[in-house]
Amino acid sequence: MSLSKDVSVEVFAADFAWGASTAAYQVEGAWDLDGRGPSIWDIFSHTKGRVFEDQNGDVACNSYRLWDEDLRCIQHLGLTHYRFSFSWSRLLPDGTTNYVNPKGVAYYNKVINDLTGKAITPMVTLNHFDLPQALEHRGGWKSPEIVDVFDSYARFCFKTFGDRVKFWITLNEPQIYAKLGYEDGLFAPGVKEKGSALYLVGHNMLRAHARVWHSYHAHFRHLQRGKVSIALNSDWAMPSDPGCPEDVAAAQRYMDFSLGWFACPVFCTGDYPESMRSRIEARNLELDFVDGQRLPKFSEDEPTVLGTADFFALNYYTSRKVKQASPRPGELSFAADQGAERTTDPSWPICGVSWLAVFPEGLRKLLSYIKETCNNPAIYITENGFAQMGPVELEDLDRCQFYRDTLQEVSKAIRDDGVNVKGYFAWSLLDNFEWTHGFSVRFGLFHVDFSRDERSRTVYRSGREYAAVVARHRGHTKFSKD
Ligand code: BGC
Repeated sequence: MSLSKDVSVEVFAADFAWGASTAAYQVEGAWDLDGRGPSIWDIFSHTKGRVFEDQNGDVACNSYRLWDEDLRCIQHLGLTHYRFSFSWSRLLPDGTTNYVNPKGVAYYNKVINDLTGKAITPMVTLNHFDLPQALEHRGGWKSPEIVDVFDSYARFCFKTFGDRVKFWITLNEPQIYAKLGYEDGLFAPGVKEKGSALYLVGHNMLRAHARVWHSYHAHFRHLQRGKVSIALNSDWAMPSDPGCPEDVAAAQRYMDFSLGWFACPVFCTGDYPESMRSRIEARNLELDFVDGQRLPKFSEDEPTVLGTADFFALNYYTSRKVKQASPRPGELSFAADQGAERTTDPSWPICGVSWLAVFPEGLRKLLSYIKETCNNPAIYITENGFAQMGPVELEDLDRCQFYRDTLQEVSKAIRDDGVNVKGYFAWSLLDNFEWTHGFSVRFGLFHVDFSRDERSRTVYRSGREYAAVVARHRGHTKFSKD
């Protein structure tokens, strides 16, 4: 049975965005070519023991050289939108506007012009995990200085590309960046300062995002008429035992400490969720921290964070069953603050990576949750996908089933739950550098042969079937207009 027959395409609005996503460090390669400065991921992946088999993104899919191939892939799928990120240090090698790299500007101009020339709408992420290393030396996201520097970079991008780019994502997944980069040390910059650094990093990311939204609003919006948001990831969490009040509260805390951490300030109250504040404040007393020292306070002297998103950009991958964790007295860690223990329902198949349990129904539930708790925003699903590990299967039937089920859940969210979903972006257009897993985990709609210099792209069956859905939807909307 093919995916195109199953998805109720008539539910999707005529202007629904059908996209796929990538990120600069994961696809571009050309890490030291044409004036690009190093990013924290170059340094991290060049350090022994950080990435599977010490792989790195030096070449990756070579999209810097092979952009024409990527464009062909995008066209092959019939996408209406393409989400990609700028390598900040390709544009500004030391992260600041003191020096602009003309070859970087030329590269992204070509990408953007090629897309718009084919009526494909670009959605650009300003920073997808790969902070310029020069800024890391100055304290990176832990330093309050980053807010001004990020704002200058963003203004430079709006000025240079904003006549053609109308969808901007400031930052990708601050929760993952802060937690994996500063608590677990699994992502660049590889810091393990448990229970403190991640909140400061998250705070500066929110402040930087808000500053950039305000800059766009004040100086560019009237001319460029684009939209700005921040991509937030979240699992969907359910209580392990729905009849147990402690599990219900733990599942809510799990949501508060993941989605709520960033969504609540931007979409709901202008501050962190109450449960984060109260839990962390209570634990501060126990751990001898001063109030506000771990989870910072938003200053009234800065422009508000509330309302700084023109749409909700959601990255969804998996769901969890959650129960109350046993207390960890004296332990300084995010897990101890959160007090929730996650498990995975044994009936959800694990795909590729151990953290990815497949539960498309979770996406529908999460969409409704966002509708209810975040004032019914327009939502673009900016990432969602299915991983393969081990021998390549071009006939990726499980992934086909996954996309079929997922898109059906999205259609139910729209039709039955009234959620304002405006677009869906598959992760990813291409197999690519999957961070600490290197090239061992594949998320692409196109297979990439990393063993050959050509890095040839071959469409997976899931790519063909996704293309068929897009074509059927386009055909349907054309037909219903006639
Ligand atoms: C990230 C992507 C990543 C994907 C799959 C998201 O957290 O934004 O860069 O490849 O998940 O792990």
